[in-house]
Amino acid sequence: MIQKRIESLRPTYAQIDLKAFGHNIEQARKLSGTDIIAIIKADGYGHGAVRLAEYAIKNCGVRKFGVATVLEGIVLRKSLGPEPEIFLLGYVDQYLHEEVFINKLIPAVFDDEIAEAYHSFLEQNNLKADITLKIDTGMHRLGYSPEMDYQEFLKKYPRFHVCHVMSHLSSADSDIEYSYQQKERFCSFIKNNNITAETSLLNSSGIANISNECTLARPGIMLYGYLYGNNNVDLKKVMRIYSKVVHIKRIPKGETVSYNRRFTADKDMTVGVVPIGYADGYSRNFSNRAEMRVNGVNCPVLGTVCMDMTMIDLTNVPLDGSYPEVEILGDNISAEKWAELADTISYEILCGISDRIPRIYKD
Ligand SMILES: Cc1ncc(COP(=O)(O)O)c(C=O)c1O
Repeated sequence: MIQKRIESLRPTYAQIDLKAFGHNIEQARKLSGTDIIAIIKADGYGHGAVRLAEYAIKNCGVRKFGVATVLEGIVLRKSLGPEPEIFLLGYVDQYLHEEVFINKLIPAVFDDEIAEAYHSFLEQNNLKADITLKIDTGMHRLGYSPEMDYQEFLKKYPRFHVCHVMSHLSSADSDIEYSYQQKERFCSFIKNNNITAETSLLNSSGIANISNECTLARPGIMLYGYLYGNNNVDLKKVMRIYSKVVHIKRIPKGETVSYNRRFTADKDMTVGVVPIGYADGYSRNFSNRAEMRVNGVNCPVLGTVCMDMTMIDLTNVPLDGSYPEVEILGDNISAEKWAELADTISYEILCGISDRIPRIYKD
């Protein structure tokens, strides 16, 4: 009932298939051979981090989650309670140390400046805390060099409990040889320093393409049903976006459609108006390029995508007088297709679906 009411606020909604999310979690575990840190930063890649995490805890026994920012971590902690481990993968500003500690978030320590700042906060307050030690094996974003002196680190920062050591692959979807070099550097670091903490290296493409020698893996995009560089993994798409045609008009040959008249009808046409636009994450790059699916027919976008509306060609669609449903993203039109048209990757497409589109959860 509530779902129906939400849908009716605006006909455009994203359906989030929680069972598909659970299925993908199992696939990630099976392929990696270990448990996972489920990466649900950026509001679960646009799917809704809290609802996904609640489902994953209850139905899949997931206990570890990864987010990017302190705020993302706090939102999860407040919703999920004290039990799950929440890893911060990114940079933490000094003024947030208290929030990090109070909310039992596990920050990534990736250089001495960061280490000293968090350690002196702990010292001043006579506290100890879990941290992730982040090693840079070739991504050259965040991380200590694998040449770092681990014993010295432990001596220098006695208030840290290193519960997790991680590194991140730069090119697991495009350069397997380089990924293996990174893995080799990471495994040597772990072995040479007799590390007994949890370890993780593999993201989704890494899980699909590289054997796992760590105790954990960190899948993100594959949990949402997408993967680059390996199409043999049985994944299910989690997000589908539907709407309906809200207005239909006929235009004669030679008329133009939408802003700046970038489409001219080459015949008499039936035009449908769909309430989704670039403010929803439906990119303006899709103007005259994308398609939506109506009653089994792929309908080209006509002219410029507007902020809140997009026009499509309904000329070949059998219509019965009612306003038909529209599949905008789903079984026939994937985020990869959108990404291709917008010259980006499915990650950016999924994260870019705006809050204006209600998420309707189905399990
Ligand atoms: C540190 C870290 N680990 C894991 C992931 C998950 O990566 P993917 O979505 O490619 O599986 C990300 C995502 O960007 C990340 O930054």
